[in-house]
Amino acid sequence: MHNLSSVKLGKIVYLDYNATTPCSREVLDAMLPFFREDFANASSLHAMGRKAARAVNDARGHVAAAIGSSTAEEIYFTGGATEANNMVLLGLVDGSNVRRRIVVSAIEHKSVLEPCRRLSERGFEVVQIPVTGNGIVDLQAVACLIDAKTLLVSVHGANNEIGTLQPIKAISEIAHAHGALVHCDASQMLGKVPVSVDELKVDFASFSGHKLYGPKGIGILFVRRGSARLAIGPILLGGGQEADFRPGTLNVPAIVGLAEACRQATSTLTSETSQIRRLRDLFEQSILDRNTDVIVAASAAERLPGTSSICFLGVPADALIAHARCICIGTGSACTAGAVSPSHVQLACGHSREIARCFVRISLGRYTTEEEVEFAINALTESVTAIRGYQPKEANLAMLNHGE
Ligand SMILES: Cc1ncc(COP(=O)(O)O)c(C=O)c1O
Repeated sequence: MHNLSSVKLGKIVYLDYNATTPCSREVLDAMLPFFREDFANASSLHAMGRKAARAVNDARGHVAAAIGSSTAEEIYFTGGATEANNMVLLGLVDGSNVRRRIVVSAIEHKSVLEPCRRLSERGFEVVQIPVTGNGIVDLQAVACLIDAKTLLVSVHGANNEIGTLQPIKAISEIAHAHGALVHCDASQMLGKVPVSVDELKVDFASFSGHKLYGPKGIGILFVRRGSARLAIGPILLGGGQEADFRPGTLNVPAIVGLAEACRQATSTLTSETSQIRRLRDLFEQSILDRNTDVIVAASAAERLPGTSSICFLGVPADALIAHARCICIGTGSACTAGAVSPSHVQLACGHSREIARCFVRISLGRYTTEEEVEFAINALTESVTAIRGYQPKEANLAMLNHGE
């Protein structure tokens, strides 16, 4: 068992894998030659350029296989999932189409919600699907909200804050029955749970390299051939790369690294997932055993194996993160102009603003050890006790009973 004296020796435990992951050794090794020896532009016609282009084509094939696409032609490399999400939403061809409704879940990432705001300024009707208290989109509401005027439905596969897995296949079937297209931001799924764009029946899907031990600044947009491809146009104009759909010199080292990350994710998924789930369950049980007034978000739902979203009543997330300096954990709250606003995900799940401000996200990954989990349990319990000691206990219970 750890005690906090190891902090004095500079120990920091990283439990924020949903925010980003370190590059794996294999990914780094695969990338390195493409920075110096094989550095050529993949669009150049000379021998070195053709070598870089071959590496990109190989990578495209590995990526297609990893996400369950039947052809590499459906894979476009982007600068990340934010860009991929923007390409779908802002790229929607705004022509004579009578379909003007966009349906998204209330708990999407900002890289979906913000482009949706832009779409509503352009005259689209954007409607949000509510979620249950467990953070799952309500399928009855989905069936009511999608109609013959719906152009696109966008629902993420797994939530980045609470880890809930969404019923994407069922949503696709409802949407397609009405002739609407379906986009899934699957960036938190890949490498954590099995993903197949064909099984999910989606038309578009977004992925991010740095969520699965690949480099930052690289992502994937899957676009199904046929009507889906015709429904969106490029949002950037330039040199014609990526079939004129995403111009810009290809980031060959990152593309190669992403493909290696996909390859590793596919081969280690099952063993990695069961170990990570075991550690997450151990973490949650110990936190519940050793602390009072704790809420585990979406505990009854199907969740990502390594994600735990926990509220310690009366302990604001920013105060806890500042106090427990030896562990790196996340919060869904946004800090704007010095004020912390509660996470839209927790609010959509029905929590009051006061309770929503107290959720922290602990996300475990490939390199998390049992020793680190025990260290984090101790550190959090000590910090929660210390912070609660500064305020009357009744205040915590009052929060539970009355909300804000
Ligand atoms: C669900 C989700 N979508 C999109 C993104 C953005 O990904 P990227 O950092 O590759 O732009 C993230 C990461 O923060 C995410 O968790």
